[in-house]
Amino acid sequence: MTNSESTSAASQGVGQRWSSRWLFILAAAGSAVGLGNIWKFPYIAGENGGGVFVAIYLGCVAAVGIPIMISEVLLGRQGRSSPIHTMRSLSQRAGASGRWTALGWLGVVTGFLILSYYGVIAGWTLHYVWLSMSGAFAGADGASVGATFDAFLADPWALVFYQTLFMALTIWIVGRGVTRGIEAAIRWFMPLLFLLLLVLFIYSLNSGGFAQGWAFMFDLKWDAVSSDTVLIAMGQAFFTLSLGMGTMMAYGAYVPEDANLGTTVVSIAALDTFIAIAAGLVIFPIVFANGLEVGQGPGLTFVTLPLAFSQMPFGEVFGGIFFLLISFAAITSAISLTEPALSYLVEEYNAKRQRVALSLGVICWLLGLGTVFSFNIWSDMMIVGDLNFFGFLDYLSQNIMLPLGGMLIAFFAMWLLPKELMYKQLGITNPAVGWAWRILAGVVAPVGVLVVFVSTLWPVLASLLGL
Ligand code: TRP
Repeated sequence: MTNSESTSAASQGVGQRWSSRWLFILAAAGSAVGLGNIWKFPYIAGENGGGVFVAIYLGCVAAVGIPIMISEVLLGRQGRSSPIHTMRSLSQRAGASGRWTALGWLGVVTGFLILSYYGVIAGWTLHYVWLSMSGAFAGADGASVGATFDAFLADPWALVFYQTLFMALTIWIVGRGVTRGIEAAIRWFMPLLFLLLLVLFIYSLNSGGFAQGWAFMFDLKWDAVSSDTVLIAMGQAFFTLSLGMGTMMAYGAYVPEDANLGTTVVSIAALDTFIAIAAGLVIFPIVFANGLEVGQGPGLTFVTLPLAFSQMPFGEVFGGIFFLLISFAAITSAISLTEPALSYLVEEYNAKRQRVALSLGVICWLLGLGTVFSFNIWSDMMIVGDLNFFGFLDYLSQNIMLPLGGMLIAFFAMWLLPKELMYKQLGITNPAVGWAWRILAGVVAPVGVLVVFVSTLWPVLASLLGL
């Protein structure tokens, strides 16, 4: 067999491994760190009172996120195949119903839905790299930056153009396989991401608004809390840690046998949280230093920040760096969204990765057109209640499908998978540790999600039933 044949065979499917435990940590962190950290986290923290939100969010990551991520990765490493095949073989092994395979399918569908809109929003960041660097914001004021964003969203062609660019890049990378595609991208993008973030952080330390930004992120203003705050924080914890849809299971299938899952997962969650907080500490000081509003919602990144950059020396450079940073973060997340479906199709049909990647990409791209149109020609077309196409996909995937998936994954790993297998995967030998772990991951985490899940759905159900 020639050299190129053997690499392509190795990158085809079953039997692939991360080159080291560190590469898995970086790849999983690459999946976790994305639009959720840099675009979403700062704006929802901004809308929900800052410090208290951050505290609740940290609680959700520790009590729910980490146990569920460990469950997901351990199932993946035990099954050593795509989430659908893993759930099939493990449910047989556990003597549980074959219906658990549906959990793998749920993940595949959720990944499609998320990637379809993720690609559109990630496309905006590519457009903003260009706008910032070309000096489009030089000398702009609040009205003109807002108008630029509105005009961009109103133009379906422009949105489709950048969506296509982003999706093409994603498909090209995943098509190359785990080692030559995903790892190669991770090796470049993750260090660059840290570097860019550091540059911006130093800038924001000196911006004159740092103390105010810090206080906003960490001062506990309890009056800003409502029951909604907890729901939002939990949804954010799921989304940002890439939980509940088999991404971590698919990535877990490639984890070397000797890696300690507990410490590995804690490092991933810590990196993800660190980057979300750092993004807040970059964004809020710049916003305060320029006397702007923190509670701008989704426009925080695309309106408030370009305005701040337009007012600073070398704003083109810093603005360009900032949007490049989000683009890198988004692409390493987008690749991970395809992995559950991709690995399944490659295994099941022994198909070529490139070809499968292309087909998946085209379907996601088509579905993404619905999101594109939600910002212009379909903006007033409501699917349910006051949710248009994008709003509906976002709500359905983040508030319903991810928590449902996460809850079931933790339940399966803790109560159905034979205990010896679970203990072996986690290297647990002490029964007391085993019990503590089962209470945390088998009871606290799924019940926590269940409570939040039911209270999110309750108003929706009540209104549907006319209660
Ligand atoms: N975690 C990513 C973010 O914060 C998004 C993401 C990637 C994701 N893979 C996922 C979300 C799997 C849920 C499930 O932007």
